[in-house]
Amino acid sequence: MIILDGKALSIKVLEDVKNRVLKLSKQPHLVVILVGDDAASRIYVNNKKKAAEKVGIKSTIIELPESTTEDKLLSVINDLNADNNVTGILVQLPLPAHIDKNKVIETISPKKDVDGFTPENVGRLAIGLEPYFYPATPQGIIMLLDEYKIPIEGADAVILGRSNIVGKPMAQMLLKRNATVTICHSYTKEMEAKIKTADILISAVGKKIVRCKMVRNNSCVVDVGIFRDANGKLTGDVDFDFVSPSCGYISPVPGGVGPMTIASLMYNASKVY
Ligand code: GUN
Repeated sequence: MIILDGKALSIKVLEDVKNRVLKLSKQPHLVVILVGDDAASRIYVNNKKKAAEKVGIKSTIIELPESTTEDKLLSVINDLNADNNVTGILVQLPLPAHIDKNKVIETISPKKDVDGFTPENVGRLAIGLEPYFYPATPQGIIMLLDEYKIPIEGADAVILGRSNIVGKPMAQMLLKRNATVTICHSYTKEMEAKIKTADILISAVGKKIVRCKMVRNNSCVVDVGIFRDANGKLTGDVDFDFVSPSCGYISPVPGGVGPMTIASLMYNASKVY
């Protein structure tokens, strides 16, 4: 069993990004918008800012109160779209309930959409055109699979979870690399039988779901989940101690997908259109 060391690869990717930024004629500038005071979102946003500073990307956090209207947020985004000194825009999710997330996302210019969430970038990926940006988490996972030379072409890949942030773009990216992809969700029948077919299993559910004897022998298991267990310890979707002995490869939590997501986002933020 080999550990997919996301922490180690993220350091290499960030080093590459830093060198890439040094060669650019214009310093990239990432603007992160945080609406309201969700504690977890604030931590994520600060981590993104710190990572950007480390690789020489300018970053600005725009903090807006919980009471911000949808119109106000859209107008902030439109100003950033028009600002030539801003190369990347990220609106931290979740947004307060009175704001339509989809309207917000579709207002971001696709060429500044470092999350790869806009309909144009999602659509480009789906029809086989190059998007301006790939979503950070699936892109980071592909980097991790490639680093460890895990074959994707022709592999049976099973994804648990169908979110717009991970499950759906992950499926598109694996399809693009000629994997056979199954997406499982809360309505899926006989999920365990499907999990057993996976050469590559990607779990992005946010609950302890992958347990002992569920995975195929020597398969590659990627754990996207990150949450705290009853004892307050950071953990993932996979019961690591019981599942890992039968895996060929497995990503740990923490130290797997998490650091790769940040590195992948910084790679995106270093792109200037
Ligand atoms: N909230 C949780 N994950 C993400 C992400 O990848 N991007 C944004 N903008 N918000 C998030």
